[in-house]
Amino acid sequence: MTQATSAPEYNYTVVRQFSVMAVIWGIVGMAVGVLIAAQLKWPVLNFDIPWLTYSRLRPLHTNAVIFAFGTSALMATSFYIVQRTCQTRLFCGWLASFVFWGWQAVIVAAAITLPLGLTSSKEYAELEWPIDILITLVWVAYAVVFFGTLVKRTTSHIYVANWFFGAFIITVAVLHIVNSMAIPVSLWKSYSIYAGAVDAMVQWWYGHNAVGFLLTAGFLGMMYYFVPKQAERPVFSYRLSIVHFWALISLYIWAGPHHLHYTALPDWAQSLGMVMSLILFVPSWGGMINGIMTLSGAWHKLRTDPILRFLIVSLSFYGMSTFEGPMMAIKTVNALSHYTDWTIGHVHSGALGWVAMVSIGALYHMLPKLFDQERMYSTQLINVHFWLATIGVVLYIVAMWISGVMQGLMWRAVNDDGTLTYNFVQSLQASYDFYFLRFVGGCFFLSGMLLMAYNAWRTISAPKGELRAEAQPA
Ligand code: HEM
Ligand code: HEM
Repeated sequence: MTQATSAPEYNYTVVRQFSVMAVIWGIVGMAVGVLIAAQLKWPVLNFDIPWLTYSRLRPLHTNAVIFAFGTSALMATSFYIVQRTCQTRLFCGWLASFVFWGWQAVIVAAAITLPLGLTSSKEYAELEWPIDILITLVWVAYAVVFFGTLVKRTTSHIYVANWFFGAFIITVAVLHIVNSMAIPVSLWKSYSIYAGAVDAMVQWWYGHNAVGFLLTAGFLGMMYYFVPKQAERPVFSYRLSIVHFWALISLYIWAGPHHLHYTALPDWAQSLGMVMSLILFVPSWGGMINGIMTLSGAWHKLRTDPILRFLIVSLSFYGMSTFEGPMMAIKTVNALSHYTDWTIGHVHSGALGWVAMVSIGALYHMLPKLFDQERMYSTQLINVHFWLATIGVVLYIVAMWISGVMQGLMWRAVNDDGTLTYNFVQSLQASYDFYFLRFVGGCFFLSGMLLMAYNAWRTISAPKGELRAEAQPA
């Protein structure tokens, strides 16, 4: 393998910017999550103000956590990893800056238009057509910078993390462009070019692969770099990581119809989605096992290293949600789970347990390196954050599992004469205690993020090189 003779000077400016914004947007997105969780328990919290209604804040939450927090973390880590594994500086510095500022403009536009009620009403693709065009431009620039850096690498090999990032970048571009095809009727209103069952299928081909390629493949790229780095061990099996990659990307793309069971979608398409989802369990667990086994011989580090704990626990949640997902894709199971809080529990075991925790671990690993320190300001605070996050996720998902299964069972319960045993309001009243528990879980998770922001700020503002690895953690 050809290696660069001296360490190249990396472009960390854009990585720093995205890392700091990932923490800030994480707090904003989760704070909105806590607010809507509270509104479900105490509906008066919308204060009768239209832009504070649940219907407008819910998409604000999903867009903020997925596209502002999650995608900023992905952009930060992909730009960091591609430079370090390719031993070269980022391709086209000014274009990388455009990616940062362009993406922030998209986020701000979303934060203004969604509370105003401007929406295309497609889930996870709510933004109206002018913003969609901006997203396309920024995404193409992102692809040019990422792949341009790969092309000018000074190593012969392309490390597997980059394969995952590459697949994520290409697929999200295709998904976004196809699903956003619309005919504008005014500056802030457009209609999808698809109709009926075709519209639904395109939407869930998009929605599911946004999960598969943005919330999964991209974060697996993160995992394949930061777990070995933090554990100071090579990845458990490089061969398995390649099998994992090809199996995952070739299966995910077919599983979308599991979101449309028992709809007007042709039955064969629903069954195909179900079968592909079941098979998807195998590569998903292959990847999880590969990540966790990377710790072989270094398990003891989990006792003292909270960053490693974030990374490994995130993999456990990844395993949990990729076991649960295929089960929920079975039509008869979905007949119970669909429309209930069970789905919301599944979403957050993936979104909080996997996506947020692997990002938090990666950010704690990167921040000191980006700001010329050897460690974060306080390891003890990272430890407290770890426990707040873990307790928060567990409270959240356990509450949703119980209320979800309860709702499903209440809705299908019938009396001897065939009438329904419970009406909808009774099932709602039975859910309130669980909504309170979810709210408490969300508060735990959010307070951990606030500690992270404080720790990051102290790390960034400390004089260069002051935080030494051998010093006692504060
Ligand atoms: C403090 C943390 C969080 C809280 C309290 C929270 C709360 C909520 C609430 C109350 C809902 C609406 C549930 C419903 O309609 O019944 C929701 C939906 C959602 N949240 Fe979160 N959330 C948090 C973090 C996150 C994160 C970090 C992500 C992603 C990375 C995320 C992704 C989603 C998604 C995708 C949905 C829509 C689910 C669906 O339509 O099935 N959330 N969240
Ligand atoms: C093998 C992997 C997975 C499979 C087969 C799978 C399957 C499913 C199924 C069957 C549903 C319910 C669809 C419905 O009833 O409407 C669902 C919903 C969802 N899953 Fe997964 N899941 C997997 C992994 C994940 C992961 C890792 C995440 C997050 C990081 C995730 C995020 C979501 C979201 C956001 C939804 C809600 C979509 C919506 O209705 O708004 N899934 N998934």
